[in-house]
Amino acid sequence: MPSARRTVLAASLLLGLFALPLGAGAPGPAAAQGLSPEEIVDAFEAALGPIRTHRPSHPKGLCAAGHFQATPEGTRLSVAPVFSGERIDAIIRLGVAGANPQASDTARTTRSLAFRLETARGEQWDTASISAPIFGAPTPELLVAGLHARAPLPATGQPDPARVAAFIAAHPETTRQAAWLAANNPPASWATTPYWGVNTFLFRGQDGQTRPARWVFEPRAGVERLSAEQMQSLPRDFLADELRRRLQAGPVEFDMVLVFPAAGDDLLNPTQAWPEDRPRVTVGRLAIVAAEAGPGGPCDGISFLQLDMEPGIQMSDDPTLQARAAPYAVSLTRRSQGR
Ligand code: HEM
Repeated sequence: MPSARRTVLAASLLLGLFALPLGAGAPGPAAAQGLSPEEIVDAFEAALGPIRTHRPSHPKGLCAAGHFQATPEGTRLSVAPVFSGERIDAIIRLGVAGANPQASDTARTTRSLAFRLETARGEQWDTASISAPIFGAPTPELLVAGLHARAPLPATGQPDPARVAAFIAAHPETTRQAAWLAANNPPASWATTPYWGVNTFLFRGQDGQTRPARWVFEPRAGVERLSAEQMQSLPRDFLADELRRRLQAGPVEFDMVLVFPAAGDDLLNPTQAWPEDRPRVTVGRLAIVAAEAGPGGPCDGISFLQLDMEPGIQMSDDPTLQARAAPYAVSLTRRSQGR
């Protein structure tokens, strides 16, 4: 992060303000230092196998449709067109993390909620969030190093446990997400987990002020996790049928909540959660109204990469955020071309 901007952020937070002066959100570096988008996607392929048809991250998924509508507070806090207060159609993808599209829905990994909003005037906003409050790497460089450390050895087809252990010992912050997942069983439904954005974004409000915030989509159905028994007994692919059944009774809804940091909160490291007591404002509601009857659908051809909508929603200088868009595009090209 440029030092002037870091100073403005720090000063603003120390004053107990959630606002930054206009213009403080100038875009930061567009990519990871020293890593091309291709090299980042190559690292996914080294660890998980070649990309042919599916995303290398959250390859299992279900397409769904719905809509988003900002609350009046959301319209106040962001001038982005998607926060106008109009009801905006959404193309949605619900995902399961893991290395393959046959991953088990009971696995101790994250679930995901990604969607594209398109206004009546054709303005688009894409975003993706996960069912854990933290990410597994603080920088793209460590994400890539971790993937290479877990790449299978040609002789065994398995990662080298010693190499993985050495990586973890050198970078313990990369284990925080796994620790959270070990302490929190997987969701009982795509509809019963919060989905966290984990990265900090800069929201410019109607008052011209820019405020750093992270978002979480809170399930209106409440939080429900699998029991240990259900983790053993439920079928591998239970999530899609569960969601389809649930939708027969009505929309599945999430409140989009912005969480504002306090002095000392780390704005740029998504492996570091903010304390629970931070100020929260509900800025919108996402409703899922229908899911595809089978695999595939309109979400398949989308890479949810357009993460900002300037000037109302702007990426912070969190390096894992800045490094996302370009590799997502490379990944989309590879899986579209089946190479
Ligand atoms: C250095 C940082 C990151 C890199 C290099 C990266 C890379 C990727 C790539 C290559 C894809 C596949 C895109 C496609 O083929 O369409 C992907 C998907 C995804 N990523 Fe990331 N990612 C990063 C950070 C994050 C973070 C911080 C989150 C947390 C919200 C996240 C959540 C997701 C989700 C949920 C998907 C699947 C979205 C879908 O359903 O299409 N990623 N990521």
